[in-house]
Amino acid sequence: MEGPLRYHLNPTRLYPGEGAGLDVLGPAEAGRARRFHAGFAQYAPTPLVSLPHLAASLGLGTIRVKDESKRFGLNAFKVLGASYAMGRYLAERLGRSIDEVTPTELCSPAMSQLLGPITFVSATDGNHGRAVAWTAQQLGKKAVIYMPKGSDPVRLENIRSHGAEASITDLNYDDAVRLAWRMAQENGWIMVQDTAWENYEAIPTWIMQGYAALAVEALEQWRAEEGGPPTHLFLQAGVGSFAAGVLGYMASALGSALPVTVIVEPHAADCIYRSARAGDGQPHAGTGDLATLMAGLACGEPCTVGWPILRDYASAYLSCPDYMAANGMRLYAAPRGGDAPIVSGESGAASLGALDGVMRSPSLASLRGALSLGPGSRVLLISTEGDTSPRVWRDVCWYGRHADELGK
Ligand SMILES: Cc1ncc(COP(=O)(O)O)c(C=O)c1O
Repeated sequence: MEGPLRYHLNPTRLYPGEGAGLDVLGPAEAGRARRFHAGFAQYAPTPLVSLPHLAASLGLGTIRVKDESKRFGLNAFKVLGASYAMGRYLAERLGRSIDEVTPTELCSPAMSQLLGPITFVSATDGNHGRAVAWTAQQLGKKAVIYMPKGSDPVRLENIRSHGAEASITDLNYDDAVRLAWRMAQENGWIMVQDTAWENYEAIPTWIMQGYAALAVEALEQWRAEEGGPPTHLFLQAGVGSFAAGVLGYMASALGSALPVTVIVEPHAADCIYRSARAGDGQPHAGTGDLATLMAGLACGEPCTVGWPILRDYASAYLSCPDYMAANGMRLYAAPRGGDAPIVSGESGAASLGALDGVMRSPSLASLRGALSLGPGSRVLLISTEGDTSPRVWRDVCWYGRHADELGK
């Protein structure tokens, strides 16, 4: 049995202007990414779904969920990052600004010919790989994807369905990233990785800007329905690029009205929680197989570009057992009181599972108090994927795998 939820409160949560720079994720940059996305025929804002009955039953004011299973027909948010980063890379190669090129132009046969053969390479549990493969296919270019051991064969097939060369390696996520990097160096391929390290920062920054465009949409939709901004934001993290992209935009756009932001990770891969708890301001890696139900969050090393944003502007960091993500999937799948059902995968539902755990657990009253979670709270969640592993979704939602060990 896994241990209970562990948390670390940020003793020095900062406000915009006091901490890490936010220019790269501000409204101007996020707006550029959004304009680029809007040029794809597949683009439409994903729905922001209200769950009033669930909110009331957890003792909260509002819960609204951005349902990223509807993104580009790809069942996950990841294409926002890969498509923008690959667009920026090609624009730069052409010596043009991203503001002057459109996806239609970049994907045209004439442009593909002008650019010549290009191979994009990445390491991924699946969602990012599918996004890279899809974008490469649109661009008429090649993609090579390395997946960590234990990856779901369905995710592998989904990547191959976009024409990519993909394989499941016997490496953990971080070692698969190192393999992709070596192959890129040896073959002159372009690495499109959704995490940064020293001297590999441009592409991951563009990926985060692509994710920030999701936050632009979410805030616009939220304001249209609720007036003021959310009071709380729960964000799931693997390497932390997604959470930093969203939090960075929110901080930049909302200033002192920034929601209380909570970072959610699995016990087996809680590198952001560990880094925050270490208290020296530096990112710290986890080790081992990173074996967790939450495949998309199974990352042992924080993104170096995203980490300072999470360090400075998040209020709390949660390390959660797998059954909480499973609870989140079930809560989304089988709502009560007329709330709309949402199909959400293991990583997609982790933030709702954590919110449910925090609100229900008798031993977490002090955490609820510290985060001011209660009837006045308006919580924004992002279900970052649909049933990207249909087998896992069925096992959890139909057959009760990963039962709630606390709730009995
Ligand atoms: C569905 C899903 N949610 C969240 C994340 C976390 O993103 P990041 O690794 O940028 O923290 C991922 C990453 O692959 C994912 O696939």
